[in-house]
Amino acid sequence: ALIGKDGYRHYMLKEIYEQPQVIGDTLNAYINPETGRVTLPETSFDIAKATKLTIVACGTAYYAGVVAKYWFETLARLPVEVDIASEFRYREAPMPEGGVALFISQSGETLDTLEALRYCKRQGQKILSIVNVPESTIARESDAVLYTMAGPEIGVASTKAFTTQLTTLACLAVTVGHARGVIPAERMQQIAQALREVPARAADVLAHDERLHELAQEVAEARDVLYLGRGAMYPLALEGALKLKEISYIHAEGYAAGELKHGPIALIDENVPVIVLVPSDGLFEKTVSNVQEVCARSGKVLLIADKKGIDKLSDKVRWSLELPACDPLVAPLLYAIPVQLLAYHVAVLKGTDVDQPRNLAKSVTVE
Ligand code: G6P
Repeated sequence: ALIGKDGYRHYMLKEIYEQPQVIGDTLNAYINPETGRVTLPETSFDIAKATKLTIVACGTAYYAGVVAKYWFETLARLPVEVDIASEFRYREAPMPEGGVALFISQSGETLDTLEALRYCKRQGQKILSIVNVPESTIARESDAVLYTMAGPEIGVASTKAFTTQLTTLACLAVTVGHARGVIPAERMQQIAQALREVPARAADVLAHDERLHELAQEVAEARDVLYLGRGAMYPLALEGALKLKEISYIHAEGYAAGELKHGPIALIDENVPVIVLVPSDGLFEKTVSNVQEVCARSGKVLLIADKKGIDKLSDKVRWSLELPACDPLVAPLLYAIPVQLLAYHVAVLKGTDVDQPRNLAKSVTVE
Protein backbone atom coordinates (compact mmCIF):
# COMPACT_ATOMS: atom_id res chain seq x y z
CA ALA A 1 0.00 0.00 0.00
CA LEU A 2 1.07 3.54 -0.66
CA ILE A 3 2.18 5.27 2.52
CA GLY A 4 1.37 8.94 2.88
CA LYS A 5 2.92 11.65 4.98
CA ASP A 6 -0.24 12.20 7.07
CA GLY A 7 0.05 15.95 6.69
CA TYR A 8 3.71 16.05 7.75
CA ARG A 9 6.07 17.90 5.45
CA HIS A 10 8.48 14.97 5.23
CA TYR A 11 8.47 11.24 5.96
CA MET A 12 11.33 11.77 8.36
CA LEU A 13 9.28 14.13 10.52
CA LYS A 14 6.30 11.78 10.44
CA GLU A 15 8.53 8.89 11.46
CA ILE A 16 10.08 10.89 14.32
CA TYR A 17 6.56 11.63 15.58
CA GLU A 18 5.52 7.99 15.28
CA GLN A 19 8.08 6.95 17.88
CA PRO A 20 5.85 6.94 20.99
CA GLN A 21 3.47 4.66 19.10
CA VAL A 22 6.00 2.25 17.58
CA ILE A 23 8.12 2.01 20.72
CA GLY A 24 4.86 1.10 22.48
CA ASP A 25 4.04 -1.49 19.81
CA THR A 26 7.50 -3.04 20.18
CA LEU A 27 7.16 -3.14 23.97
CA ASN A 28 3.77 -4.82 23.64
CA ALA A 29 5.44 -7.56 21.65
CA TYR A 30 8.06 -8.23 24.32
CA ILE A 31 6.55 -7.21 27.66
CA ASN A 32 3.45 -8.99 28.90
CA PRO A 33 0.97 -6.20 29.66
CA GLU A 34 -0.68 -8.24 32.45
CA THR A 35 2.39 -9.32 34.39
CA GLY A 36 4.71 -6.51 33.29
CA ARG A 37 7.36 -9.18 32.68
CA VAL A 38 9.67 -9.21 29.71
CA THR A 39 8.97 -12.34 27.69
CA LEU A 40 10.82 -13.06 24.48
CA PRO A 41 9.78 -15.68 21.96
CA GLU A 42 11.28 -19.18 22.37
CA THR A 43 14.52 -19.74 20.47
CA SER A 44 16.20 -23.00 19.49
CA PHE A 45 19.32 -21.99 21.44
CA ASP A 46 19.81 -20.31 24.80
CA ILE A 47 21.18 -16.79 24.37
CA ALA A 48 21.86 -16.58 28.11
CA LYS A 49 24.34 -19.45 27.80
CA ALA A 50 26.38 -17.67 25.14
CA THR A 51 30.09 -17.56 25.85
CA LYS A 52 30.34 -14.35 23.87
CA LEU A 53 28.05 -12.03 21.95
CA THR A 54 29.28 -10.54 18.67
CA ILE A 55 27.12 -7.68 17.41
CA VAL A 56 27.46 -6.60 13.77
CA ALA A 57 25.56 -3.94 11.81
CA CYS A 58 25.95 -0.82 9.63
CA GLY A 59 25.12 2.85 10.06
CA THR A 60 22.47 3.75 12.59
CA ALA A 61 21.82 0.07 13.35
CA TYR A 62 25.48 -0.21 14.36
CA TYR A 63 25.04 2.60 16.88
CA ALA A 64 22.08 0.71 18.36
CA GLY A 65 24.52 -2.19 18.71
CA VAL A 66 27.05 -0.02 20.53
CA VAL A 67 24.37 1.08 23.02
CA ALA A 68 23.47 -2.59 23.48
CA LYS A 69 27.07 -3.47 24.27
CA TYR A 70 26.88 -1.27 27.39
CA TRP A 71 23.58 -2.92 28.36
CA PHE A 72 24.72 -6.53 27.86
CA GLU A 73 27.93 -5.91 29.75
CA THR A 74 26.37 -4.19 32.76
CA LEU A 75 23.07 -6.06 33.01
CA ALA A 76 24.19 -9.52 31.89
CA ARG A 77 27.98 -9.51 32.40
CA LEU A 78 28.19 -11.01 28.94
CA PRO A 79 31.37 -10.34 26.93
CA VAL A 80 30.40 -8.34 23.85
CA GLU A 81 32.25 -7.38 20.73
CA VAL A 82 30.62 -4.92 18.36
CA ASP A 83 31.79 -3.95 14.88
CA ILE A 84 30.63 -2.47 11.63
CA ALA A 85 29.84 -5.17 9.08
CA SER A 86 32.15 -3.95 6.30
CA GLU A 87 35.15 -4.31 8.62
CA PHE A 88 34.02 -7.39 10.47
CA ARG A 89 33.38 -9.52 7.40
CA TYR A 90 36.99 -9.27 6.19
CA ARG A 91 38.76 -9.39 9.56
CA GLU A 92 38.81 -13.17 9.82
CA ALA A 93 37.86 -12.80 13.46
CA PRO A 94 38.29 -15.99 15.49
CA MET A 95 34.98 -16.91 17.07
CA PRO A 96 34.50 -18.95 20.24
CA GLU A 97 32.58 -22.17 20.64
CA GLY A 98 29.16 -21.45 22.08
CA GLY A 99 29.14 -17.92 20.74
CA VAL A 100 26.07 -16.03 19.55
CA ALA A 101 26.24 -13.45 16.76
CA LEU A 102 23.61 -10.70 16.65
CA PHE A 103 22.80 -8.75 13.49
CA ILE A 104 20.80 -5.54 13.58
CA SER A 105 19.22 -4.25 10.38
CA GLN A 106 16.16 -2.23 9.51
CA SER A 107 15.90 -3.55 5.96
CA GLY A 108 17.33 -7.02 6.58
CA GLU A 109 19.05 -6.67 3.19
CA THR A 110 22.27 -4.75 3.83
CA LEU A 111 24.87 -6.77 1.95
CA ASP A 112 27.80 -6.30 4.32
CA THR A 113 25.65 -7.29 7.30
CA LEU A 114 24.35 -10.34 5.44
CA GLU A 115 27.86 -11.45 4.48
CA ALA A 116 29.05 -10.98 8.07
CA LEU A 117 26.13 -13.21 9.14
CA ARG A 118 27.22 -15.91 6.70
CA TYR A 119 30.79 -15.71 7.99
CA CYS A 120 29.59 -16.16 11.59
CA LYS A 121 27.49 -19.12 10.54
CA ARG A 122 30.54 -20.77 9.00
CA GLN A 123 32.34 -20.11 12.28
CA GLY A 124 29.68 -22.12 14.11
CA GLN A 125 27.92 -19.23 15.82
CA LYS A 126 24.21 -19.23 16.59
CA ILE A 127 22.61 -16.46 14.56
CA LEU A 128 20.18 -14.02 16.10
CA SER A 129 18.91 -10.96 14.28
CA ILE A 130 16.86 -7.89 14.98
CA VAL A 131 15.15 -6.72 11.80
CA ASN A 132 12.26 -4.52 10.82
CA VAL A 133 11.30 -6.14 7.52
CA PRO A 134 9.97 -9.65 8.24
CA GLU A 135 10.38 -11.18 4.79
CA SER A 136 14.01 -10.15 4.47
CA THR A 137 17.12 -12.18 3.67
CA ILE A 138 18.76 -11.58 7.06
CA ALA A 139 15.57 -12.72 8.84
CA ARG A 140 15.44 -15.83 6.65
CA GLU A 141 19.03 -16.84 7.25
CA SER A 142 18.92 -16.41 11.05
CA ASP A 143 18.36 -19.10 13.68
CA ALA A 144 16.15 -16.68 15.60
CA VAL A 145 14.68 -13.26 14.82
CA LEU A 146 13.29 -10.49 16.98
CA TYR A 147 11.19 -8.06 14.96
CA THR A 148 11.03 -4.34 15.57
CA MET A 149 7.52 -2.98 15.18
CA ALA A 150 8.53 0.28 13.52
CA GLY A 151 6.38 -0.27 10.43
CA PRO A 152 7.70 0.86 7.04
CA GLU A 153 10.46 3.46 7.31
CA ILE A 154 10.63 5.61 4.18
CA GLY A 155 13.02 8.43 5.13
CA VAL A 156 16.57 7.43 4.24
CA ALA A 157 17.85 8.69 7.60
CA SER A 158 16.77 6.09 10.12
CA THR A 159 14.78 7.31 13.14
CA LYS A 160 11.97 5.07 14.39
CA ALA A 161 13.87 1.94 13.32
CA PHE A 162 16.70 3.03 15.65
CA THR A 163 14.54 3.58 18.73
CA THR A 164 12.61 0.33 18.20
CA GLN A 165 15.93 -1.50 17.81
CA LEU A 166 16.98 0.00 21.15
CA THR A 167 13.65 -1.05 22.69
CA THR A 168 14.10 -4.64 21.51
CA LEU A 169 17.74 -4.73 22.61
CA ALA A 170 16.83 -3.43 26.09
CA CYS A 171 14.20 -6.18 26.46
CA LEU A 172 16.75 -8.76 25.33
CA ALA A 173 19.51 -7.49 27.63
CA VAL A 174 17.32 -7.55 30.75
CA THR A 175 16.03 -11.03 29.95
CA VAL A 176 19.54 -12.35 29.42
CA GLY A 177 20.75 -10.51 32.54
CA HIS A 178 18.06 -12.13 34.64
CA ALA A 179 18.59 -15.58 33.14
CA ARG A 180 22.30 -15.31 33.90
CA GLY A 181 21.51 -14.43 37.51
CA VAL A 182 23.02 -10.97 37.25
CA ILE A 183 19.91 -8.91 37.88
CA PRO A 184 17.17 -9.99 40.29
CA ALA A 185 13.53 -10.17 39.25
CA GLU A 186 12.83 -6.82 40.96
CA ARG A 187 15.40 -4.98 38.84
CA MET A 188 14.01 -6.64 35.73
CA GLN A 189 10.50 -5.47 36.66
CA GLN A 190 11.83 -2.00 37.41
CA ILE A 191 13.46 -1.74 33.98
CA ALA A 192 10.34 -3.12 32.31
CA GLN A 193 8.35 -0.41 34.09
CA ALA A 194 10.82 2.28 32.99
CA LEU A 195 10.51 1.00 29.43
CA ARG A 196 6.72 1.07 29.62
CA GLU A 197 6.88 4.74 30.55
CA VAL A 198 9.03 5.57 27.50
CA PRO A 199 6.18 6.20 25.02
CA ALA A 200 4.67 8.86 27.30
CA ARG A 201 8.07 10.40 28.05
CA ALA A 202 8.96 10.33 24.33
CA ALA A 203 5.78 12.29 23.65
CA ASP A 204 6.91 14.85 26.29
CA VAL A 205 10.25 15.14 24.48
CA LEU A 206 8.50 15.72 21.13
CA ALA A 207 6.75 18.69 22.73
CA HIS A 208 10.15 20.48 22.69
CA ASP A 209 10.13 20.53 18.89
CA GLU A 210 9.75 24.30 18.67
CA ARG A 211 12.78 24.97 20.87
CA LEU A 212 14.87 22.62 18.74
CA HIS A 213 13.62 24.44 15.68
CA GLU A 214 14.92 27.71 17.19
CA LEU A 215 18.26 26.10 18.00
CA ALA A 216 18.49 24.80 14.45
CA GLN A 217 18.79 28.38 13.16
CA GLU A 218 22.02 28.75 15.07
CA VAL A 219 23.39 25.30 14.19
CA ALA A 220 22.60 25.81 10.49
CA GLU A 221 25.25 28.55 10.37
CA ALA A 222 28.00 26.27 11.66
CA ARG A 223 30.66 24.62 9.53
CA ASP A 224 31.45 21.93 12.10
CA VAL A 225 29.46 20.53 14.99
CA LEU A 226 30.69 18.34 17.83
CA TYR A 227 28.53 15.88 19.82
CA LEU A 228 29.77 14.54 23.16
CA GLY A 229 28.56 11.87 25.57
CA ARG A 230 29.81 9.11 27.85
CA GLY A 231 28.67 5.55 28.34
CA ALA A 232 25.53 4.80 26.34
CA MET A 233 25.42 8.52 25.45
CA TYR A 234 28.61 8.08 23.44
CA PRO A 235 26.88 6.09 20.66
CA LEU A 236 24.03 8.61 20.89
CA ALA A 237 26.59 11.35 20.20
CA LEU A 238 27.78 9.35 17.20
CA GLU A 239 24.21 8.93 16.00
CA GLY A 240 23.48 12.66 16.46
CA ALA A 241 26.50 13.53 14.34
CA LEU A 242 25.54 10.97 11.70
CA LYS A 243 21.98 12.30 11.44
CA LEU A 244 23.21 15.88 11.05
CA LYS A 245 25.78 15.11 8.36
CA GLU A 246 23.48 12.75 6.45
CA ILE A 247 20.71 15.26 5.89
CA SER A 248 22.14 18.76 6.40
CA TYR A 249 25.64 18.10 4.93
CA ILE A 250 27.23 19.93 7.86
CA HIS A 251 30.41 18.27 9.07
CA ALA A 252 29.70 16.73 12.47
CA GLU A 253 31.64 14.44 14.75
CA GLY A 254 30.59 12.40 17.73
CA TYR A 255 33.16 11.87 20.45
CA ALA A 256 33.40 10.14 23.80
CA ALA A 257 33.44 13.09 26.21
CA GLY A 258 36.43 11.66 28.05
CA GLU A 259 38.42 11.58 24.85
CA LEU A 260 37.90 15.33 24.31
CA LYS A 261 41.32 16.23 25.65
CA HIS A 262 42.99 13.83 23.22
CA GLY A 263 42.10 15.81 20.14
CA PRO A 264 38.78 17.56 19.58
CA ILE A 265 39.44 20.10 22.32
CA ALA A 266 41.75 21.74 19.78
CA LEU A 267 38.68 22.58 17.67
CA ILE A 268 36.85 24.43 20.44
CA ASP A 269 36.21 28.12 19.85
CA GLU A 270 33.21 30.49 20.00
CA ASN A 271 31.85 29.20 16.70
CA VAL A 272 31.76 25.42 16.94
CA PRO A 273 28.51 24.21 18.53
CA VAL A 274 29.24 21.46 21.06
CA ILE A 275 26.15 19.42 21.82
CA VAL A 276 26.55 17.52 25.08
CA LEU A 277 24.20 14.77 26.25
CA VAL A 278 24.18 14.62 30.05
CA PRO A 279 21.52 12.43 31.70
CA SER A 280 21.88 11.87 35.46
CA ASP A 281 23.62 8.52 35.43
CA GLY A 282 26.74 7.09 37.02
CA LEU A 283 28.97 9.19 34.76
CA PHE A 284 27.17 12.49 35.40
CA GLU A 285 30.00 14.24 37.29
CA LYS A 286 32.56 13.15 34.71
CA THR A 287 30.56 14.61 31.83
CA VAL A 288 29.86 17.78 33.83
CA SER A 289 33.61 18.34 34.15
CA ASN A 290 33.97 17.91 30.37
CA VAL A 291 31.28 20.57 29.86
CA GLN A 292 33.22 22.87 32.18
CA GLU A 293 36.39 22.26 30.15
CA VAL A 294 34.59 23.33 26.98
CA CYS A 295 33.08 26.40 28.70
CA ALA A 296 36.52 27.40 30.03
CA ARG A 297 37.70 27.60 26.41
CA SER A 298 34.77 29.84 25.40
CA GLY A 299 33.09 26.89 23.69
CA LYS A 300 29.49 27.15 22.62
CA VAL A 301 27.84 24.39 24.66
CA LEU A 302 24.33 23.27 23.79
CA LEU A 303 23.23 21.11 26.69
CA ILE A 304 20.67 18.33 26.64
CA ALA A 305 20.13 17.03 30.17
CA ASP A 306 17.51 16.32 32.82
CA LYS A 307 16.82 18.58 35.79
CA LYS A 308 20.02 17.64 37.61
CA GLY A 309 22.23 18.68 34.70
CA ILE A 310 20.16 21.78 33.99
CA ASP A 311 20.42 22.94 37.63
CA LYS A 312 24.14 22.43 37.60
CA LEU A 313 25.07 23.83 34.20
CA SER A 314 22.37 25.91 32.54
CA ASP A 315 23.84 29.25 33.64
CA LYS A 316 27.24 28.31 32.18
CA VAL A 317 26.14 27.13 28.75
CA ARG A 318 24.84 28.90 25.65
CA TRP A 319 21.56 26.98 25.37
CA SER A 320 19.94 24.09 27.21
CA LEU A 321 17.04 21.71 26.90
CA GLU A 322 15.55 19.85 29.86
CA LEU A 323 14.42 16.30 29.21
CA PRO A 324 12.39 14.24 31.67
CA ALA A 325 14.41 12.37 34.30
CA CYS A 326 14.37 8.62 33.70
CA ASP A 327 16.10 5.37 34.57
CA PRO A 328 19.58 5.77 33.01
CA LEU A 329 18.95 2.55 31.15
CA VAL A 330 16.19 4.03 29.00
CA ALA A 331 17.88 7.41 28.51
CA PRO A 332 19.21 6.50 25.01
CA LEU A 333 15.61 6.11 23.82
CA LEU A 334 14.69 9.62 24.93
CA TYR A 335 17.93 11.39 23.98
CA ALA A 336 17.63 10.04 20.42
CA ILE A 337 14.63 12.30 19.78
CA PRO A 338 16.15 15.78 20.22
CA VAL A 339 19.17 14.89 18.07
CA GLN A 340 16.84 13.65 15.32
CA LEU A 341 14.67 16.77 15.49
CA LEU A 342 17.66 19.08 15.49
CA ALA A 343 19.12 17.42 12.39
CA TYR A 344 15.72 17.55 10.72
CA HIS A 345 15.18 21.27 11.32
CA VAL A 346 18.72 22.16 10.27
CA ALA A 347 18.25 20.24 7.02
CA VAL A 348 14.93 21.97 6.32
CA LEU A 349 16.56 25.37 6.90
CA LYS A 350 19.38 24.39 4.57
CA GLY A 351 16.84 23.37 1.95
CA THR A 352 18.22 19.89 1.41
CA ASP A 353 16.19 16.92 0.26
CA VAL A 354 15.48 15.57 3.75
CA ASP A 355 13.91 12.24 2.80
CA GLN A 356 16.31 11.52 -0.08
CA PRO A 357 19.67 13.00 0.85
CA ARG A 358 22.26 13.11 -1.91
CA ASN A 359 24.42 10.03 -2.47
CA LEU A 360 22.67 7.94 0.21
CA ALA A 361 20.47 4.88 -0.20
CA LYS A 362 17.87 3.50 2.16
CA SER A 363 19.31 0.04 1.92
CA VAL A 364 22.80 -0.71 0.64
CA THR A 365 22.63 -4.05 -1.15
CA VAL A 366 25.89 -3.65 -3.05
CA GLU A 367 29.47 -3.42 -1.86
C1 G6P B 1 21.96 2.92 5.03
C2 G6P B 1 20.85 3.82 5.54
C3 G6P B 1 20.97 3.98 7.07
C4 G6P B 1 21.00 2.63 7.74
C5 G6P B 1 22.09 1.72 7.15
C6 G6P B 1 21.93 0.28 7.63
O1 G6P B 1 23.18 3.59 5.20
O2 G6P B 1 20.90 5.08 4.92
O3 G6P B 1 19.88 4.73 7.56
O4 G6P B 1 21.23 2.80 9.12
O5 G6P B 1 22.01 1.68 5.74
O6 G6P B 1 20.74 -0.23 7.10
P1 G6P B 1 19.94 -1.44 7.68
O7 G6P B 1 18.76 -1.63 6.78
O8 G6P B 1 20.87 -2.64 7.65
O9 G6P B 1 19.57 -1.10 9.08
